[in-house]
Amino acid sequence: MEEIKGVIFDLDGVICDTAKYHFLAWEKLAGILGVPFTEADNERLKGVSREESLNILLKIGHVTAADSRKKEWAEMKNGWYLEYITKMTEEDILPGAKEFLVRLRREGRKTALASASKNAGIIIDRLGIRELFDYIVDGTMISRAKPDPEVFLAAAGGLKLRAEECIVFEDAKAGVEAAHNAGMRCVGVGDSDQLEAADFRIKDFTDCRIKEFREEDRMEA
Ligand code: BG6
Ligand code: MG
Repeated sequence: MEEIKGVIFDLDGVICDTAKYHFLAWEKLAGILGVPFTEADNERLKGVSREESLNILLKIGHVTAADSRKKEWAEMKNGWYLEYITKMTEEDILPGAKEFLVRLRREGRKTALASASKNAGIIIDRLGIRELFDYIVDGTMISRAKPDPEVFLAAAGGLKLRAEECIVFEDAKAGVEAAHNAGMRCVGVGDSDQLEAADFRIKDFTDCRIKEFREEDRMEA
């Protein structure tokens, strides 16, 4: 098995719990549009771009609209989302994540952020962790949503590493699929029951060590 030289992180739901803010903002829009929208529905939006998320929500409610109207709705949702994320602080980093990033770099490994979010830069600056990433890919730099591997291949390219040398940390089903489509190993983060396909699972980053993710330690899904 290849040595792990590059460690690639999704942002929302992995480094911080912004998934709950996405949900609250979509829920608010759904309320205005009269679309029934649950946390289970929200699982389908994780890792998916803003525009695609809106399309899924509208499909649930059998709502059709012109592109100009959809753009307005996406902007409304993002406005509410920004109200949440601009209040974030270092306290919002999920348990052990910062320490894990520091440890990886001390071990000489490269780190990258690979997020579908156009707000990723705002968030990592609020959290004060920008300098812990050797390369950052956000939603402004990619055109194909997970499970397309584009975001992870761009991250590996930025780190100047091959896919087989990288491992991905993801909280979303579409993200696990994207990592595998990129030819990378994937660790599922969190307690979602949507992560069976991940090669390994962790609850959070507390005491997380990269050497745990070797083929011989592969956990049962
Ligand atoms: C992903 C989230 O990281 O970013 C999705 O998991 C979100 O839920 C997507 O829709 C796009 O985010 P943003 O901030 O550009 O609307
Ligand atoms: Mg995520």
